[in-house]
Formats: sequence, C-alpha cells, structure tokens
Amino acid sequence: MITEVTSLVGRTEAELAQWLQAGFGAVLGEEVAGKLAVRVTPATDPAFGDFQCNDAMALAKVAKKPPRAIAEAVCRAQPLPPSLAKVEVAGPGFINLTLQPAWLARQVVEQGARPRCGIPQAGGGKTVVLDYSSPNVAKPMHIGHIRSTIIGNTLDRLYRALGYRVIADNHLGDWGTQFGIIIKGFRAFVDQQKLAESPVEELERIYVKSYEQTKSDPAWLDGCRQELVKLQQGDPENLALWKQFVELSREEFNRIYQRLDVAFDRYHGESYYNDKLAGVVRQLEEAGLAKESEGATVVFLEEEGLPVCIVRKKDGGFNYATSDLATVQSRVAEFQPDRIVYVTDERQQDHFKQFFAISRKLGITTRLDHVWFGLMRLPEGTFSTRQGNVIKLDKMLDEAEARALAIIREQSPEMPEAAQRELAQAVGIGAVKYADLSHDLRTMIVFSWDRALAMDGNSGPYLQYAHARICSLLDKYAAQFPGEDIAAGELLLNDPAERQVALQILQFPVAVARAAEIYKPSVLAEYLYALSQAYSSFYQRLSVLKAESMAQRRSRARLCDLVAGVLREGLGLLAIRAPRRI
Ligand code: ARG
Repeated sequence: MITEVTSLVGRTEAELAQWLQAGFGAVLGEEVAGKLAVRVTPATDPAFGDFQCNDAMALAKVAKKPPRAIAEAVCRAQPLPPSLAKVEVAGPGFINLTLQPAWLARQVVEQGARPRCGIPQAGGGKTVVLDYSSPNVAKPMHIGHIRSTIIGNTLDRLYRALGYRVIADNHLGDWGTQFGIIIKGFRAFVDQQKLAESPVEELERIYVKSYEQTKSDPAWLDGCRQELVKLQQGDPENLALWKQFVELSREEFNRIYQRLDVAFDRYHGESYYNDKLAGVVRQLEEAGLAKESEGATVVFLEEEGLPVCIVRKKDGGFNYATSDLATVQSRVAEFQPDRIVYVTDERQQDHFKQFFAISRKLGITTRLDHVWFGLMRLPEGTFSTRQGNVIKLDKMLDEAEARALAIIREQSPEMPEAAQRELAQAVGIGAVKYADLSHDLRTMIVFSWDRALAMDGNSGPYLQYAHARICSLLDKYAAQFPGEDIAAGELLLNDPAERQVALQILQFPVAVARAAEIYKPSVLAEYLYALSQAYSSFYQRLSVLKAESMAQRRSRARLCDLVAGVLREGLGLLAIRAPRRI
C-alpha cells in the first residue's frame, strides 16, 4: 500500500513515508504493513533529526513483535534514499530521519522557484462558494460581521491561492422584518441633517429606537408589520425607502471593505432570492417534507435531533431558513460548486444544521460547511455601543492606526509624515486582523491593544517587522556587495540554525493547504510565527554580512531572501501588508 500523496502532507514527508512503507513491507510482509498508511512528521525535537515516524509501535501490536526490533530492521531493510543522511531508532521504536543537507537545500531552492512559494494547486477545476461578511442593512454591523469579514477573506485568499475557483458572495441581510421596523421608525424620527452627515449611524439609531418601541407598544408593532406588508406588496414609497437604505448601507460597507482590502465577486443579498421563497415552500410541501402546524408551515427534524424549522410564518412571511434554502438551490444550479462555505458567529449553528439537513432532504448533495467562530470581547467601553458586541469598526480601525502612528513616530522620527501615515495604516490594520486570525476560531478572544500591537510577541506587527528587517538586511547586502548574485552558487545548510530555517520554509505549502482544508487561518499564523522565530535564532547566531566566506555570505543572504518571500506570501494570505520598511 502506498501512502497517498496529498497536499496535506509535505512532499518530503510523503517521500520518506513511501520509503518507510516499503521497509515495513520488507520486514513484516505486505499484508501486515498494509494495515497502516505510514506517516512521517516533522521531528518534535531537532536534536533527534529532521523528521520522525512513530508507526513501528502501532504495527508491532499487529505483528505481535517488539517495536524497537521492528524499527531497527526497517532502518536496515533498504539502502538509504539519496534524501537521507541517516536513520536512527530511539526509545521504544521511534524512527528518526535526518536529511542530507544538499538534498534539503535543493528542495528549498526548488520550492522558492515555484509560483507563490510552492503552494500546491490542489483546487484545480474545483469551485468554492464562500458566503461571508453578510451584514444586515440598516442594522448595526456587530463584531460577528467583522470577524466574518476578516476570517472569510482569509479563506477566500487561501482557496484562490490553492487554485480553486472562488465565488465570494456577500449575502447581505437586505430583506425581512427589520425593514418594517425601520420604515415605521424612519417616518417618525428621522433627523434629515444627521441622515446627510452619517447615514448608517442615523439608520441604526432609528432602527434601535423603533425596535425598542415595538416591545412596549403593540400598536407600534402592528404599524411596523403593516409597513413590511406594504413593502412586500411592492408599495412604491416603501420600495424607494428600502432602496435608499440599501444603497446608503452598501456605501458604508464598501468603505470598510476598502480599508480592509476585502473584495467580493457579488452581493446577492436575501432580497435577490425573494421571488423564489414561495416555490421552496411549495417544493417542501409537495415532497411531504413540510407540514402545517398552528397556522405556520414547518419542517420537523426530529430524526436529526434538531428543533423544528419554520419555513413560512403564520402571517405568510418567510424565514431566514427559507431564504437560505432558495439561495443554496440557486448557487448549486449556477456554479455546480464542490462546496459552499458559510462564515458566521457561533450563535447560528442551529440555523445551519437545520438548513443543511433540509437541503439534504431536497436532494442537494454539495458539501455544505458552516465555519463558526466565537465572539470577540472588546476592551470595556471603547467602541461598544449599547450591547457589548456592537462596535463601530471605523472607530476601532482609526484607533489602531493612531496607536501604530504613535509607535512609528517614536521609532522612526526621521521618516516623512506621509510615509509614517501609510505605514501606520498597514501596521494598525494588520494588527487588528492578526489578533483575530491568530486565535483558534472557536475560542472567545479578549482583544487587547497591547498584545495586538506588540513588537515582540505573536502579533501582526512582529511579523511585519521581521519581514522588514530582512528586507533592510538584503538592501545592505546589495549595497556592500554589488554584483554578487544570491541565486548563484549553492545554498549551504551546515549549521543547525540554517537547517531549522530551511525545514520551516519547506512546511509553508502544507500550512497553507491545512489552514484552508480545516478552515483555520490560525494554522497559517502559527506557521509564520514559527518561521520568524527560526529566522530570528538563525540571525542571532550567524552573521550574514560578515560571514567567513563569499559562498557562505551569499548562501545566507539567499536563505534570508527565501524567508522574506514566504513571510510576504503568508502575510498576503492573511490580507496583511508587508511593507519593506518599518
Ligand atoms: N445576515 C446574517 C446575519 O447578520 C448572516 C448571513 C450569513 N449567510 C447566510 N447565508 N445565512 O446574521
């Protein structure tokens, strides 16, 4: 049995695993060895080698033989492949593998020469629809939408880099009951001056005020319902108001997307599917999936262990789930995607479970994934309005830039003002994004400015700074040794610190593929941090500009250049800019 070479296993690991698999076959017989796909992983402790394999223990149980003896026999069963300098057994039967430096160097150089630092083109011919950001018109954008925007955009970049066709669709909440509330409120409380100055803020104020009133004033609530019905029936005045709200909100969203370097392929909000909702309910009824219950039409999901899902309310209105069912049908028909991915906060888990289950019943076979994340807590009082998770993103980004600017002014007073500002933008916004992306999605994060902007911890600015430092080192190198071509000559990896950097570089393509496949941008963030730490140990230990020989100097400069290339590419995937100078 041959280990399948997938993009989730590095090329080196896959080759070594194949070699070991043959060794296990020779020692234990193909039948026993074939019970397990042998795996090779990066060594947990570099003192023992570059890679390791722990499968002698598992196969020993099957073969009923001592693991250490098996491991030793496997190491001797075949001549070493050209990639390996040595193979050793440690402890109860760990197989430790050490690469030939020249072979390792060749892999690193070859990877560096491939487009985008060797990101595997695993998505060729495949399509992903990515549904992210998706804020609600005229309702406050809350921290969940912001995280969805940042996380979704990274997934977007990851999948595109892997060669997938990506359709980034911003599923705006631009239809539904909130419009009755806003229209009613608008007529009663709009402040035209405020609307002209800061339209979305004014719409939000109106929404909140009107919504509050629905709770205590039944006549008001009824009025809101009537406005909604009028809108749904195409009343020209209400339609015009609705259009105005959508346009004003979209302008504001676009300003935020621009600041965040986020772009969508389309903005098909809920309203786009409006005329398909009745058809979905009819289809569910005809298939015997939906039933009448207390005046509403519902789908029971007892078998799935899920709560009942209302697809048409008593008053004839449709629900969020109905809208998502119409949307999924339309997306499947239009794009025949291999998967559709939805990015929202954790509170929507039940909704997606229900709607996925009903989609299955309707015969949709496309893979549907809900990527959910925990809510982020923000520092007390700063940007929160009303409830804790409603924030003014603009204000948060302004503050990020202001704080970054203060740091830059202090550290680089000689830099021209305009350059300082541009840099502050890259650093401030990068810091906010990285603080979000570097945490496991599902854990709740407490945002802290000090941590987000730290120059010496696992932060965006730290990685940007690491990249910029390498760039300035390479500039010095070019100035001191003009005409010396770093791409000429060999990459020498004789020192353990150089070796660790090289091994880290080789892990980049896998980190990208894994981050995408398991929907965890933090895998890539952790990788970039580990790479910059390996680089920093290398840099502290070995001199580049004052290396002993020209060959060594050139080789080290080349290694630096390769690291900078990976950092740039990786930060780009996290939508974080990598300025050459900080
Ligand atoms: N507009 C929704 C909200 O703000 C998020 C939509 C997510 N996408 C979807 N297809 N349901 O909660």
